[in-house]
Amino acid sequence: MDKNHANDTAEQPAGDAISVLCDDHNRLRGLFKYFGQLKGDGATTERMNVAEEICKELLIHTIIEEELFYPAAREVVTDELIDEAQVEHDAAKHLMQQLIPMRQDNSHFCAKMAVLRESVKHHMEEEEEYVFPKVKSSRLDLAMLGKELLQRRTELRDELKTVGNLVGFQPVKHFVGKQRGGSAARINK
Ligand SMILES: [Fe+2]
Ligand SMILES: [Fe+2]
Repeated sequence: MDKNHANDTAEQPAGDAISVLCDDHNRLRGLFKYFGQLKGDGATTERMNVAEEICKELLIHTIIEEELFYPAAREVVTDELIDEAQVEHDAAKHLMQQLIPMRQDNSHFCAKMAVLRESVKHHMEEEEEYVFPKVKSSRLDLAMLGKELLQRRTELRDELKTVGNLVGFQPVKHFVGKQRGGSAARINK
């Protein structure tokens, strides 16, 4: 993959939770845009590499939100908003579960990637418009939560490296129902 679009696995300085998640969103936007620019038979391998990178980044992002960010956000935003976000994650995971083992000569590959891109774009915009501002103006300890998100993201990337590929990672099966709670109750005094 073009190094400009490669996953940045280098150690990052700890940011607050919102900046960590917005960085993920922007990385995903860049990857989807790059995927859309890859045309023709000569780009076949690169398209598959980018599709796998999108699924990997998106999967890790959904996991850290579900394990750490959403439980904390429930303290300060309505359950309805987080429930809707969770349903959107489940739909994205369902699509990824179909995409990951699929070859792009399958006639539905590009259609599924397009649906994934549109649904993830909508989901990220809603988080940025309705969830993140409320969390940001709350008394949740966003610095601590940011550290936990980064730590968990690193763990998941290492785990994925060990497994070697997303098929072996079995993401949906592996993570359904798993929530670690994290900083949910940590509120600045
Ligand atoms: Fe999300
Ligand atoms: Fe998100």
